[in-house]
Amino acid sequence: MANNQWYKELAVYQIWPRSFKDGNGDGIGDLWGVLEKLDYIKSLGVDAIWFSPLYCSPNADYGYDISDYRKISPEYGDNELFKKVLDEAHKRGLKIIMDLVVNHTSDEHEWFIESKKSKDNPYHDYYFWRDGKGKDGKKPPNNWLSVFEGGAWEYNEDLKQYYLHVFAKKQVDLNMDNPKVRQEVKDIMKFWLDMGVDGFREDVITFISKAEGLPNGFPLPIGTGLEHYKKGPHIHEYLSEFRHDVLDKYDCFVVGESPMTNAKTALEFTDEHGDKELDMMFLFDHMEADCFMTDTIHLPFNLKKMKKAFANWHKTLDGKGWPALYLENHDHPRIVDRYGNLNYRVESAKMLATMCYMQSGTVFIYQGQEIGMTNFHLDSLDQFKDVVTFNNYKLFKKLGFSDAAYLKIANTTSRENGRTPVQWTSGEYAGFSTAEPWFHLNENYKQINVEQAENDENSILNYYRKLLKFRKENPIVIYGDYKEHYKDSDKMFVYERNYEGKRMLVVSSFSDRALRFDAPEGFNLEKGKKVLGNYSTEKIIDNGFIMNPYETRVYLFE
Ligand code: NOJ
Repeated sequence: MANNQWYKELAVYQIWPRSFKDGNGDGIGDLWGVLEKLDYIKSLGVDAIWFSPLYCSPNADYGYDISDYRKISPEYGDNELFKKVLDEAHKRGLKIIMDLVVNHTSDEHEWFIESKKSKDNPYHDYYFWRDGKGKDGKKPPNNWLSVFEGGAWEYNEDLKQYYLHVFAKKQVDLNMDNPKVRQEVKDIMKFWLDMGVDGFREDVITFISKAEGLPNGFPLPIGTGLEHYKKGPHIHEYLSEFRHDVLDKYDCFVVGESPMTNAKTALEFTDEHGDKELDMMFLFDHMEADCFMTDTIHLPFNLKKMKKAFANWHKTLDGKGWPALYLENHDHPRIVDRYGNLNYRVESAKMLATMCYMQSGTVFIYQGQEIGMTNFHLDSLDQFKDVVTFNNYKLFKKLGFSDAAYLKIANTTSRENGRTPVQWTSGEYAGFSTAEPWFHLNENYKQINVEQAENDENSILNYYRKLLKFRKENPIVIYGDYKEHYKDSDKMFVYERNYEGKRMLVVSSFSDRALRFDAPEGFNLEKGKKVLGNYSTEKIIDNGFIMNPYETRVYLFE
């Protein structure tokens, strides 16, 4: 067994390719653009790139609906160009992680096209085709709801059967109980690993096993059927099969993604003393400090809730599992709008990075996060592009919300906020492209862009570089223990780390007012060295200091 541990020390940069950088002048980000920016990525101090899906896709869910698992979408380049990016990345010491989306395929995948030809087609059983209920067979086989679009079943007139789609109608659930499907998945993994990629981020991976007989879920309004597939009966068996038959044979790592995952669930899949089906999982609870379950149900930010989530990870995973530290990805609005404060954009962005990435875990940074990109303000619903935004629109309309009220909600909570083109310069189209970008460019690109950040020693970008360098040079950040102080404070986040006789204290303010901080017992700040901070002040008064708005400081005691 390869049993790698190197993933623990990685900092990973996530690219959502459509909005990263356009290199061929069609307004859509692509691999030519990535090639141009590899040195920039390397300069951040990261060790790997995770690509959101680059494969052929009709883009019903921008790449998360794959129509060919072995082919790079012509919008982004081709396999030869991908190989070049891979080699160039490797030359720079950057690993490459691909997205593996096997809960579903696009309805334009050849397997699905075959499967709907007839009930005895060899591909029919690759998916969940079922007869309808009722006299005319026109009632869906069960009461499950789709996470994205109404009911979870779509009727096919030719076959007179329904197919299952837990996500959009064009994202058809694969029947993982069919050993041929599992073999296909393993072959796809091998295809990319043999080409040289270093691992996978596995999309909604705990959804791949559905309860036998596809029974009805709890009745509405509580139910969606989720309880029958969010951690299905064969999930451990299938993930172990992928681990033993493929992953163990390569020097690679896998990070699983699955909504509603907390530390306890993650451990079932990642326990280092067990089968370790996955190396780590993205947890979701720390991203729910300003919402209820989903970003769309927005609530005021609750620092205690976020701190509790982190504390729980460290307690539960301690010595057994490994956290994935992230604050943004393509599924969420920008963090500085959520947990930070736009009046203190630079300060709060640096503080958020510090409080998160000074913890133990593998670092994930999403494109644009490193320059403090912010949410947009769209004027009309027509400007949105995402299936989830449109589905939520229907739901909110049913609840009596006006278009204007929903527009406000979407502007704050839509995941599309994280999908605007990366702002490279203050020039035309923000240096993202030479043509009109495929999606709205945030108006603030003249002030917030990479070029500006490069020229400012105190920029968020340069702070990220310092922080990642510090992480790399100080194993205490990666391997130290975790002890929280002032748990009950709803304004401060304070924790210490200990490793091989060294101590580190991380102090962060979530307030826009000055606050008095007193060092916890056992710490003498005069004896520590301030190694990171977002204000130049060093002043210590009575073993504490007055924290500026959103101030963060890291002290090292050697
Ligand atoms: C999770 C992905 O991150 C998200 O973007 C996608 O829409 C769903 N899985 C469905 O594949």
